[in-house]
Amino acid sequence: FKNIVFLIEKYGNLFLIGTGYTLLLSLITVFFGTILGSVLAMLKNNRFQIIRSIVTAYIEIVRGTPILLQLYIFKFMLPAAFPSFKPSTFVCILVALILNSAAYVSEVIRSGIEAVDKGQTEAARSLGLSKRQTMLKIVLPQAVRYILPALGNEFIMMIKETSLASVFFVGDLMTQFQTISGATFLTMEPLIIIGIIYFVLTFSLSKGVAVLERRMKAGER
Ligand code: ARG
Repeated sequence: FKNIVFLIEKYGNLFLIGTGYTLLLSLITVFFGTILGSVLAMLKNNRFQIIRSIVTAYIEIVRGTPILLQLYIFKFMLPAAFPSFKPSTFVCILVALILNSAAYVSEVIRSGIEAVDKGQTEAARSLGLSKRQTMLKIVLPQAVRYILPALGNEFIMMIKETSLASVFFVGDLMTQFQTISGATFLTMEPLIIIGIIYFVLTFSLSKGVAVLERRMKAGER
């Protein structure tokens, strides 16, 4: 316990920086993952079979391989593919995380849209709304109440998943653990500290998601 107090006094700023990086990485990931995921979900209904197949293959491959493997691939492939502006490790990792998240988010959006009662579409179409209007004005506003909480969960998930990026020393909480344990030869104590930080982050966010879920349900009636 004495060691924990010592670590917080001496390395408090590193824990803060790590928390910042963890939150930043997961926030940017979910933000762009949501945009790209929406595009993927839309392309999954494209009229060209070839595009639908490519998107499906992409989603299946991303979800069927470990995120750590994807981080490795991008860490080594991106700098080789763009030798002129040599993307930093941070950027490579971020791109990999976004591309991973997009595949998961596209499924979130697809299932959110599917959760809206088919009768809504039929009613809107029979009232003369176009397919596009039906989607934008009737289906999507209702799908939001399934999609938004699920995006909150994706954010929570990414907070934990970004710990894998510490393999490449990107500055997140887990990276700070490596730095601090390297400098002090303490392992259990820094692990307990970052464990508590991770838990406080995810626990409070999941409480937030629960509140959001309740609000959205209330709006249904
Ligand atoms: N840990 C799993 C993996 O390595 C799940 C990744 C979850 N990714 C996500 N964007 N929700 O593949």
